[in-house]
Amino acid sequence: MMNTVTTKEYLTIDDLDVDDKTVFVRVDINTPMDPEGNILDDMRIVSHIPTIKDLSNAKVVLLAHQSRAGKSDFTTMAPHAEKLSRYLGKHVEYVDDIFGSHARSRIDSMENGDIILLENVRFYSEETISRSSEEHSETHMVKKLLPHIDVFLNDAFAVSHRSHLSLMGFTDLVPTGAGRVVEKEIEALNRSIREGGNPCIFVLGGAKVDDSLRVAAHVLSNGGADRVLVTGVVANVMLAASGINIGNRNMDFIKAQGYADQIEVAKSLLDRFNGKIGMPKDVALNDGGKRIEVQIEDVGDSGLPINDIGLETIVAYSSEISAAKTVVLNGPAGVSELDGFELGTYEIIKAATEADYSVAGGGHISAEVRQMGFEDRFSHVSTGGGSCIDYLAGDKLPAIEALYKAAQSHQNKK
Ligand code: 3PG
Repeated sequence: MMNTVTTKEYLTIDDLDVDDKTVFVRVDINTPMDPEGNILDDMRIVSHIPTIKDLSNAKVVLLAHQSRAGKSDFTTMAPHAEKLSRYLGKHVEYVDDIFGSHARSRIDSMENGDIILLENVRFYSEETISRSSEEHSETHMVKKLLPHIDVFLNDAFAVSHRSHLSLMGFTDLVPTGAGRVVEKEIEALNRSIREGGNPCIFVLGGAKVDDSLRVAAHVLSNGGADRVLVTGVVANVMLAASGINIGNRNMDFIKAQGYADQIEVAKSLLDRFNGKIGMPKDVALNDGGKRIEVQIEDVGDSGLPINDIGLETIVAYSSEISAAKTVVLNGPAGVSELDGFELGTYEIIKAATEADYSVAGGGHISAEVRQMGFEDRFSHVSTGGGSCIDYLAGDKLPAIEALYKAAQSHQNKK
């Protein structure tokens, strides 16, 4: 594995004066939701409770996002505020505004111990423009909120690989540090980097194809991983890139998710890293809820969706994973919420517990690890998906870099 940063290059709640202050905390409580708007997994919400509890003498303003524009679960933060209230045993008020006069006057009327959760920051389209902290500092949102904020904490490890406004807009301007989640993640992932040995395998699945292919390219070119095994939609894109006919239904799904262009990216990866990328030999199709095992060459005419990796692949991947020294899992192998199609994800998780060092990253796979009761058998179960694998791949996470920069300027002022 790669060597990246040393620890404690950032400030934490313990280093900052937070009592009686208005503390903005960027959290990541982006969670899987069902079509009725119910939260399906509370892990990320629960993870922030220690940070919020450590701010009991402050006015706490939580900033968060849910999903991405255009997705069906791109909703308000109201259900998240309810869950937070339940876990804290204390009311967390949802404010349906981000930086308008309603939000600002509510912040001004807060008392110590009050907690509010502002609206989904991605409802403001400037949020997701990738910019430097200096550029974000100049935005309308930052200018409006700045007079109301004393301290900024980034506790949103899971989105810290994005250079987004709410993560980096305040870090140059007010005392800034890491919340407890970020602190814990950096410590645990640094430990993985130090202690994990070779061979190191990254198992990349789920549906964020662009992120996974970028990480695959990175870890295979910098020696961060010896092998990458692909599952989920990532595997379908790779299979299509290798010239396999995965059928119109599966191709349409890739296009509908906006990943048609990733087939070319996958082709060049296969050209560059031939032999270092493992792809499924067989898959499970979903025929009206029934699991049908087929060889990959036979998917084409079926008209059925691929919902999991097949049995032969499960066996081959499992033996490779369990023999590895370090395994990083990201994204489920199939549609693991459907009965019968959780098998690939389940077996891969089980195999990973046999590796010397195992890290699980990503909402879905981390939830599965917990549901299986295997959390204690993993070296680390991360709250991050893309951020976790980017960090392990040796990438700099812009929002974490902003914390290092803030700590530096704090030191320089002393
Ligand atoms: C995640 O779920 O991985 C984080 O919340 C980041 O979400 P994003 O990939 O939509 O930026």
